Amino acid sequence: MDNPGPVEQSAETPLRVPRHVAIIMDGNGRWAQERGLPRFSGHKAGVETVRAVVEQCVKLNIEVLTLFAFSSENWRRPPREVRLLMDLFMLTLNREVKRLKRNNVRLRIIGDHSGFSSRLQVKIREAEEMTEACTGLTLQIAANYGGRWDLTQAARKIAQLAVNGDIEPESITEEMLSSQISTAGLPDPDLFIRTGGEKRLSNFLLWQSAYAELYLTEVLWPDFNAAVFSQALRDYAGRQRRFGRTTEQIIQQQANVPGNE
Ligand code: IPE
Ligand code: IPE
Ligand code: MG
Repeated sequence: MDNPGPVEQSAETPLRVPRHVAIIMDGNGRWAQERGLPRFSGHKAGVETVRAVVEQCVKLNIEVLTLFAFSSENWRRPPREVRLLMDLFMLTLNREVKRLKRNNVRLRIIGDHSGFSSRLQVKIREAEEMTEACTGLTLQIAANYGGRWDLTQAARKIAQLAVNGDIEPESITEEMLSSQISTAGLPDPDLFIRTGGEKRLSNFLLWQSAYAELYLTEVLWPDFNAAVFSQALRDYAGRQRRFGRTTEQIIQQQANVPGNE
């Protein structure tokens, strides 16, 4: 995917904008319970937050936004909550796809689609097809997604290539694995946000987030807004990403001094 290049600097735009932001949208249930409302009201309020965050990403020229909407493990929730979440997913796809297209947003749903009803699978395909020519933000919704599922399905595809005689085990590289996981062709997440106060990965983008910068906030997802997102982006812009190197090497690199290995 093309890099849109640096965005215009203003008081709101941080110095360095991440190419890919991944978010675990957590805390909907608690948000509702705090208000004496059913958990589902929190999920509905969470959809409003999604809309606002997508718009902010479009404005900032962020290339990829990946949102964790439903994990492989969320099937363990009470059947009624699962059913309501599936209905909300369907409703939201119906309502939002046109708006996404208008905003030049390409929608992808990553995860194991086979776990969904056939109606929902058809809707997912239609929504993806409607926006596939969009060249702005790539919005990935992770639904029935788990990092372990992702690695397992990649391993299965690679094993098939080997069985077919198309590859030798020695030719399996990190790049090849990356090319078979669900986010193939997209940059890895630079900024990994989790709302709702928990300090765990919950099986999200395990392979892809090897070097993501983490931003954990207590703010519950329905309360996540432009100000909190900007704070996360400012925090990210101030981080020094070393990828195993030393601070001195990074400083040298920034000064464009050759021979800084
Ligand atoms: C995240 O909010 C949304 C989904 C997992 C679908 P939660 O529903 O996990 O909210 P809390 O963590 O119970 O507050
Ligand atoms: C992670 O949230 C999954 C999503 C946000 C969709 P959970 O609330 O399900 O995570 P755990 O189970 O508390 O780790
Ligand atoms: Mg939760």
